[in-house]
This record gives sequence, C-alpha cells and structure tokens, in this order.
Amino acid sequence: MTLPLTEHILYTQDQLHIEACSIESIAAKTTTPFYCYSKAQLLSNIHHCQAAFKPHGMDIHYAMKANSNLSILRLIADQGLGVDLVSSGELLRAQAAGIPEKSMIFSGVGKTTVELTLAINAGVGQFNVESVEELELLATLATQHARSINAALRVNPDVAVDTHKNITTGRKGNKFGITIEQALSLYQCYADHPWIKLSGLAMHIGSQIQSVTPYRQAIEKLMALATKLEEAGFSINSLDLGGGFGVDYGDGANLDLVSVAQEIARSTANFRGRIIVEPGRSLVANAGVLVSRISYIKEAQPNPFLILDAAMNDLMRAALYQASHPIVPTNTDNDSAIRHYDIVGPICESTDTFARSYPLSKSLKAGELVAFLCTGAYGSVMSSTYNSRSILPELLVSGTETQIIRKEITQAQLIEYEL
Ligand SMILES: Cc1ncc(COP(=O)(O)O)c(C=O)c1O
Repeated sequence: MTLPLTEHILYTQDQLHIEACSIESIAAKTTTPFYCYSKAQLLSNIHHCQAAFKPHGMDIHYAMKANSNLSILRLIADQGLGVDLVSSGELLRAQAAGIPEKSMIFSGVGKTTVELTLAINAGVGQFNVESVEELELLATLATQHARSINAALRVNPDVAVDTHKNITTGRKGNKFGITIEQALSLYQCYADHPWIKLSGLAMHIGSQIQSVTPYRQAIEKLMALATKLEEAGFSINSLDLGGGFGVDYGDGANLDLVSVAQEIARSTANFRGRIIVEPGRSLVANAGVLVSRISYIKEAQPNPFLILDAAMNDLMRAALYQASHPIVPTNTDNDSAIRHYDIVGPICESTDTFARSYPLSKSLKAGELVAFLCTGAYGSVMSSTYNSRSILPELLVSGTETQIIRKEITQAQLIEYEL
C-alpha cells in the first residue's frame, strides 16, 4: 500500500501534519476523536477539477452529500461551483452557505411534497426528476404555486460499473432514475405543460468508479436518447452526467479527472448544450482525516485488538460497504518492527471493525493517536449517535491556524431533545 498522503497532509519530521500543524498539536486543543480538514488541499482539489472540466466549458456542481459542513460549502461556493443536493436539509444548508438557488440542482429518488414545495418556492435552478410519479407531483405543485420549473429526467442507463455493489446506481434493479423508454413518453406527455419545462437529461452511475469505460457506455445511451428526443422536436439543453470519480484510498487506483473530462468531451462532441458534472468524493476525500486515540491494545489471537475511541458511528464506510482507509500513527519517531492488529471501535457490534490483520508499529501504546486518511468524503456526514455517542467536532486547518468548524454535539445535548 502506498499511503495517499498529499502536499498538505504529510509527515514532517516523523509527525503527521495538516499543513503547518501537527496532528498532535491539534489534538492537544480538542477532544478525540475528531475530523480535521486541510483548506489548501480542498482548494487544490477544486482547482484541479476546474482545470480538468472548465476548458471543455463544463459546469461543476459539487455533490454536497459528500461533506456538507457549512465552512466547506462556503469554500467550495467561493470558487464558483454550484451544488447538487438531495434533501430539504441540504437545501437549507446550501442557502445558509450563501449558494444562489439558481446554482442548485435537486436530485434524489424520494423528494417529498414538503421538500419539492420548499425547493419550488426557493427557485432551485434544476430538478432532476427520478420517476413518472415524481414528475406528476412536481407538475401539480408547480401549477399550485404558479412557478416555472426547469427539469431534467434522470435516466438509468443500465451499465455495469467496477465498484462495490452497494454504490452502483445506474444498473437495472437500482432504485434510481427512469428507463430510456419512459423518458421519451414523458417528454411527449409534458410537451405543452404550462409550468414544467423538460429540457435536460441526467445520470449518475455510481461512486468510486475507476475507469472511464462505464461513463463512455452510459453517455452513448444518453446521447442516443437526446438525439431521438431532438428528432421528435424537443430541445435538450443540458446533460448532467453525475459524479462518481474514484479516489485513491491507498490501493493506487483512482480516476484521473483530466481523462474523465476528455472522455466526456469526446463522447458528447455532437451535443450543443450545457454539460454538467457532479463530483463529490473527488473534491473532499483526501482533504480530511479522522483522528482517534488508542484506548487499549488487547492481547488476543490471532491478532491483538487495537481498540480505538472512534467507532463505526463516526466513520461508517467500513461497516456499510467494507471500505478501507489507511490508518497511520500520527507520530512515527518510535516506529519499530511491524505487528498485525485487528483495528476496532468500542461499539457493541462485531461490524465495528475498521481493519483486520493491519500492519502497524509494534511499539504503539494506549493513549497514542492514529489517523484515518482520506476521510473527508462520506465520513462525518454519515455519523450517527448509536450507543449514545456524540457527533464529533470538525476542524479546519489553514497554514498555522486551526479553526473549529463544527462543535461536538455532546451526549448531554442529545438527551436534551428527549421529552
Ligand atoms: C446524483 C448524484 N450525483 C453525484 C454524486 C456524487 O458522487 P461521488 O461522491 O462519488 O462523486 C452522487 C453520490 O451518490 C449522486 O447520488
């Protein structure tokens, strides 16, 4: 494994640093576990993404589900990106971060009446509709509120994707989107609707994808549909191609954004409208770490257990889809021979296991810190309070400055909500 360290999250003199701050110095000022992000890494990821897609005139809408902390959102919005959101909660957050409603795309398979009403009245720029039934409801609400709606149909192109089965979204049997056949008849049905303007097609085929092939295959199907619709007299003004661009979690595999952009440009060369992409993970994953303290090293067979104070409720990805994150000591100056550990959290579930037989220094001791790398995406946002555990603080580092960007939601505060 090659550690996915970056220009801004790296070892300096045996100490893991985020920019100019050592993790040990940050941990001295807060409780563990905690999430910590690098502002410079985040900005570098955004600029890299813009450099890949902007020369082709493509629009970037950050899929805010990956990390929706307000400070992170503000940084992303300041760079001129729009957002892709999937709930009224995300809409409120995007508004709180100052993102213009026109720059928002509302995706999601189960938008409720309340959520659609809120989004319609807020003036959300584009609705990505995922079913016949949703379009009916959207049309009813748009008529009631006398609001013009710009909508795209999310199509399920049914392509195979080389990722974990739980994070494919564009295969037959996945709940997302409508079929290509349905798209044509919906365009015909809503052609003269006074408030619904169907003018785009959308797709999102999965997450942590490592090859451009499924994009090429899916875009081919989308382009064929767009051509058919145009021949039938409909104008298709936008193609939203989703996100899903894979990042390196230590196995060296990732998806280079420049090649994705080139592939998209090639595959959509005959399309004259606007192309949108919705990256989430690739903008934030490697900009964040989860820092945890070792509570115990419990001797056992076949491996000792490294029992951490972080658990599956803080970082669900391992329990949810067997994802692995590189786990590293924050201080390597005592590094000695390697020992293999089973790395677990304190929660009363056997799936509260981050790694099995994981090689780390033999000299590790209870009380020392480890960091989970590449946890800026789908980390903190997926937290729960299982076992009545708190929601972790989040910090942002910029140079020598460390700022708390979300306070811990404490165990006592959680109890206050119960009547
Ligand atoms: C509609 C949509 N767009 C974009 C994304 C972002 O995916 P990723 O974070 O893998 O780039 C998702 C993730 O599930 C999604 O559902």
